[in-house]
Amino acid sequence: MELPFAESYKMKMVETIRKSTREERETWLKSARYNLFNLKSEQVFIDLLTDSGTGAMSDRQWSEMMLGDESYAGASSYYKMKNAIRDILGFEYFLPTHQGRAAENVLFSALIKKGDIVPGNSHFDTTKGHIEYRNATAVDCTIDEAFSTTVNHPFKGNIDLEKLKHVLSNNPVERIPVIIVTVTCNSSGGQPVSIQNLRDVYTLAKKYNIPVFFDSARFAENAYFIKLREPGYSGKTIREIVREMYTYADGMTMSSKKDAIVNMGGFIGFRDEQLWKKAQTFNIMFEGFITYGGMSGRDMNALAQGLYEGTEFEYLDTRIRQVAYLGKRLSDFGVPVQMPYGGHAIFVDAKRFLPHIPKEQFPAQTLAIELYLEGGVRGVEIGAILADRDPVTRKNRYPELELLRLTIPRRVYTNNHMDYVAVALANVWERRDDIHHGVKIVSEAPIMRHFTVELERAEVHALAH
Ligand SMILES: Cc1ncc(COP(=O)(O)O)c(C=O)c1O
Repeated sequence: MELPFAESYKMKMVETIRKSTREERETWLKSARYNLFNLKSEQVFIDLLTDSGTGAMSDRQWSEMMLGDESYAGASSYYKMKNAIRDILGFEYFLPTHQGRAAENVLFSALIKKGDIVPGNSHFDTTKGHIEYRNATAVDCTIDEAFSTTVNHPFKGNIDLEKLKHVLSNNPVERIPVIIVTVTCNSSGGQPVSIQNLRDVYTLAKKYNIPVFFDSARFAENAYFIKLREPGYSGKTIREIVREMYTYADGMTMSSKKDAIVNMGGFIGFRDEQLWKKAQTFNIMFEGFITYGGMSGRDMNALAQGLYEGTEFEYLDTRIRQVAYLGKRLSDFGVPVQMPYGGHAIFVDAKRFLPHIPKEQFPAQTLAIELYLEGGVRGVEIGAILADRDPVTRKNRYPELELLRLTIPRRVYTNNHMDYVAVALANVWERRDDIHHGVKIVSEAPIMRHFTVELERAEVHALAH
């Protein structure tokens, strides 16, 4: 018999999680103003809010924590991180930051000014937020296939070269300071970008002399999909693929809370020494001295170790198979999800799940609420609430995809947990026609409102604005 698949690690420490009753959850959710970010973690049984900083560090990462050098300047931990970045990603220059959005803040302070245009593939919300905060515009050039959850395209994170060409040739080059390619593309469903596409984008960008930066939170998961899906790459190691990916980038921003499997941390990688020097000033202003950014020495050590572990095939295979396991269970129940399954999460198509909830009443948030009430499972809305208002017209933006993201933390849950989640959502699916309440916004922040928005349940068709 062929030996079945088994996880590439075993457990040494566990954390108790507790179930709750539906009545308790109803009370808690009401007090949380129907925003799942406002729940206390102890009010959640299985937490699929994010894979960001929620992973389990390994025994080796914890031992590295003990070896951290907390010197203000020139700590050995900084050099450990520098060596790992050079070794794995090939960047000579880097700046540590406390997380991914801090890397964006520092880099964009050096690169982006009012009126600029930043093309990319479905920019992540913090990326877009930092662009719009500077009165610049993010232009989405993702391929059309990404916006249909039923189309089974292997690289739905790809940039449409025609769309990109259109942006580059119809705007003055000096107004396009950078092209950002997100690998994997979180907002389009954790979907990868092919090496071919990275190469083509880079070649096109070079014709216009525009730098390309990768938003790299899940770069290793991207490399895993290239290995599995792109002709000519099955025989290469993940690290070989990663090295090739980054030959098509002038730099990178990194939220290390994902593929470097740490609870906090980030960095910016640069090829250009001048830009690195320019960005240093902003790093010092916003983050800390250039050899620690916003990180402690012990965290830099764990991050360096995590970069090696996060680029091992066995680890990635375990992780992405678990995501696919949840996807398959849901598909078997008939629940509509983004196909193919993403790298870090399963994205449930809320428009197809709850077609009777109007977009003005936020179907994906409604679904997130129903799943929490059903089983204490916390997912997150990736839809119109996240998409925010248009900065100029202040009208709600309704993206083509209205998704509930079930994000799986790294090395944390077992497949029994995935079974629980699948059945909880299948129960909601069974009773979907009886869901007669969407939500309406009671109060919201002027930018990045999803984190703090306050909501009320509203009867379907009771409002439309
Ligand atoms: C693609 C992508 N870029 C940037 C970020 C921002 O990183 P952080 O949460 O570390 O600030 C995230 C976080 O989820 C992300 O998924």
